[in-house]
Amino acid sequence: MTNQSISSITKQLNASPTPRHLVAYISEQLNSAGFVDFSKQSINQNKSGYIANSGSLIAWRTGTQTARSGFRIVGAHTDSPCLKLKPNPEDRRFGFNTLQVEIYGSPLINSWLDRDLGIAGHIVLQNGEQKLFCSANPVARISQLAIHLDREVNERGLVLDKQLHLSPTWSTDSKSPNLIDWVAIQTKTKTTDIAHLDAQLFDTNKATVIGIDDSLLASGRLDNQASCWAAITAIIESPTSSSTLVVALFDHEEVGSQSASGAGGPFLEHTLERLSAGLGLSRIDYLEALKASSCISADNAHAVHPNYPERHDLANAPIINRGPALKMNSNQRYATSAESAAIFVAACNTAKVEHQIFVSRNNMPCGTTIGPITATRLGIKTVDVGIPQLSMHSAREVCGVSDLVSLQLALKAYFK
Ligand code: CO
Repeated sequence: MTNQSISSITKQLNASPTPRHLVAYISEQLNSAGFVDFSKQSINQNKSGYIANSGSLIAWRTGTQTARSGFRIVGAHTDSPCLKLKPNPEDRRFGFNTLQVEIYGSPLINSWLDRDLGIAGHIVLQNGEQKLFCSANPVARISQLAIHLDREVNERGLVLDKQLHLSPTWSTDSKSPNLIDWVAIQTKTKTTDIAHLDAQLFDTNKATVIGIDDSLLASGRLDNQASCWAAITAIIESPTSSSTLVVALFDHEEVGSQSASGAGGPFLEHTLERLSAGLGLSRIDYLEALKASSCISADNAHAVHPNYPERHDLANAPIINRGPALKMNSNQRYATSAESAAIFVAACNTAKVEHQIFVSRNNMPCGTTIGPITATRLGIKTVDVGIPQLSMHSAREVCGVSDLVSLQLALKAYFK
């Protein structure tokens, strides 16, 4: 992987503690690449552009023959499991000011302990204006109980009460501001102007290349900002094709995608239909375009963990740095079919990158992602793929550096 690609993805990861920060960051990348922001205006004929919708974003590069060649879509998700701050989170206990959290998605909650945490999120003002915020420094910490007070923890395993044991401490001074006053200072706003806020914790450790051979990337939110990076850089660097190229990045995948901006909502469907109408196509043209369309849904896969190889079906188990995996499940937890798999295999062959296959063990519940949801909503043939990683849903995950660029190259080949 080139140094340029590494600095490009680490920059994105470090700038994006929340889905909204990611959408803002990607919007800037698209602006500089000449994509037009259609978030607040009608979609214009023949212009490549994007629409940002809360923590979701859809970008497209208009093709030369939209009606016949359909859409080539890459989907991914912007959200990651985390600890969000509850409304009225403040408490004062035994010399500490603490905050109450709510668990978003399914994080490995132990991974949030003993980390230097920041607070990021967005506010909505009384006048409807929105502002992002992100603490410049670590401001909070969830401390693990000392081993002397929990003697059997290494044998019994760590047991955390989700209500009692996850409250971060964030100051000791009894006169410290409460959360909304602190956010007002961060955003240079008056507290009384803030209608509401949405805040979450994040690990302030920066994304870092590790290994004596520089072959691994460690960071929070690799699931699934790694796929977002590959998809957005692929569409930015792709030339115009006969098909309209689309990247759809959705929030709320980690909680089931059923939301106004999630993959279960109408965002993609409405955007594709608006895109067709903007190009002067009829409803029938649009339905025919859908029939000719395809979707690659990219979301990370589980690499074989060298300490736990028995957790995989080793005949179909992705190895780190051997390329993106096709994710297959005949019970349709993944949308991949033989026909849609062939689309991704062809893209990998064109790009000259390896690919692998992931099928879970029969006695292991299989995850799912946005692939089956978009396939169900639009009837578009869809293939689920993803780069292998370890520590999925940890506050700090790890993936293979060369897999990132392989996925990007395969997506570029698909867009050609
Ligand atoms: Co994911």
